[in-house]
Amino acid sequence: MSREIVDRISDCVGVTPIVKIKHDLVPNDKQLFAKIESFNPNFSVKDRTAIGLVHSALANGALKKNGLLIESTSGNLGKSLAMLGAIYGFEVIVVVDPKVSPKVLNWYRAFGAQVDLVTEPHIEGGFQKARIARVQELLELHPGAYWPNQYDNVSNKEYHYYKMGPEILEDVRSTSSDLVVGSVSTGGHLSGIGSYIKSHCEDVGVVAADIAGSSIFGGKFTPYLINGVGLSWRSQNTDFSAFDNIVVASDQMAISVCREISKSHGFLLGGSSGLVIFAALSSLLHSEHRSALAILPDSGINYLDQIYDDDWLDSNGISLMGYEQLCDSLRRTPPSSVPEE
Ligand SMILES: Cc1ncc(COP(=O)(O)O)c(C=O)c1O
Repeated sequence: MSREIVDRISDCVGVTPIVKIKHDLVPNDKQLFAKIESFNPNFSVKDRTAIGLVHSALANGALKKNGLLIESTSGNLGKSLAMLGAIYGFEVIVVVDPKVSPKVLNWYRAFGAQVDLVTEPHIEGGFQKARIARVQELLELHPGAYWPNQYDNVSNKEYHYYKMGPEILEDVRSTSSDLVVGSVSTGGHLSGIGSYIKSHCEDVGVVAADIAGSSIFGGKFTPYLINGVGLSWRSQNTDFSAFDNIVVASDQMAISVCREISKSHGFLLGGSSGLVIFAALSSLLHSEHRSALAILPDSGINYLDQIYDDDWLDSNGISLMGYEQLCDSLRRTPPSSVPEE
């Protein structure tokens, strides 16, 4: 057996495995495949995003090797940027909010990053807008610092178009999938992948999953529990033309799917992964599509003290749905079309 020896841990990002989901929730004669992004070094798809943002900034000089990078993160991107800071020698300040588990703060610190914790939500945009406001303050305090701005920086979407798009196309072909389903926050990974898929095989559909309460596809923002997905506004990296349909599901639906899959398949899904599986099941149920590839952004390892903790669920008013209830909610939650721009 030959093994590839790499120079840096970041060289291990990508080419993640696919697991077939065998569950009674998958409609008869249809297939569901899960692409497990938690096989990246920091257990999420954001390792890919960080490479896209940092390599382009190092290449165009916006970030110096001994410079300072400041970014707002819902958790995962911060780990990936801190990893790259350790590898390339730049400083990192991650701006986070209390939705991030306190243990994760030590993850950033282990890579030498500083943590800046926002404690109060923004009056209109929840913690996400509060974090951006804090980044602006820090940029004034540190002139010359680099802000990747994962929301609007085109390198995010472009990296996923050129690097993740071909990988997903190969996965689509090897699983004979006619549907790709993913989640959206900055929109970077699914917009890039969706555009690539659309420009290479028109007959494959793309579905975006969003969490109830997010206002990416319209509606008023209201707080929700699932971390990493959704946004209180729509970022420039969310390209509606890359999606055919959307599925919006609740915290309760997404978390219930996570718990069903962990029990039946022996792996831990993050909340947004439960949401993506829900959206894929709904799309298979309500369409002619026969086989879906679901992109699962991160692992439940980040949320053992949240969505996998029954006391935490109780204190947040979430009761787990059983099989019948999930079937019912899948029937009542069909995909809808993407809103007009
Ligand atoms: C757990 C999780 N799910 C989904 C997403 C959405 O990814 P994107 O920002 O590329 O839309 C993220 C991004 O931070 C995430 O961390």
